[in-house]
Amino acid sequence: MILSQDWDKNWDSFQHDIKQQIRDVVNTEHYSVLAEIIPHYKKGDRFLDAGSGLGRWVFHLEKMGFDSYGLDISDSALRKAREYAKRNNLSSKFIYGDLRNIPIELGFFDLITSFGPLNIFLIQ
Ligand SMILES: C[S@@+](CC[C@H](N)C(=O)[O-])C[C@H]1O[C@@H](n2cnc3c(N)ncnc32)[C@H](O)[C@@H]1O
Repeated sequence: MILSQDWDKNWDSFQHDIKQQIRDVVNTEHYSVLAEIIPHYKKGDRFLDAGSGLGRWVFHLEKMGFDSYGLDISDSALRKAREYAKRNNLSSKFIYGDLRNIPIELGFFDLITSFGPLNIFLIQ
């Protein structure tokens, strides 16, 4: 089991400035995996990325018109994601929690993704 402190250490080790930090993560072609999913949703639908890290999927989906949320077990990641949202006038919300027991009624979200953390559970 990877503990939240380990994830904090990981995200704390990003030393360069927050803008550059998220730019590094945002510049990706991975978003193409969403191309088949997105047409099934409408603007304003609620989206959650469970294990959101610095929030790249959350911000991307907000820009596509979703009411966007991130959930993470690392305070460090949440702090950086919230700071990025504030600096860039984005309204994505970031919640502390464990995706194995999401602290929000499940029907609240129209779409939930998890990029990364589930792989980690599978290989442990
Ligand atoms: C590999 S990163 C991926 C981050 C983001 N989804 C992305 O693609 O950029 C995995 C993230 O999942 C979070 N995480 C790991 N276990 C978790 C759990 N049980 N509940 C919530 N978040 C978790 C970590 O803190 C970390 O930010």
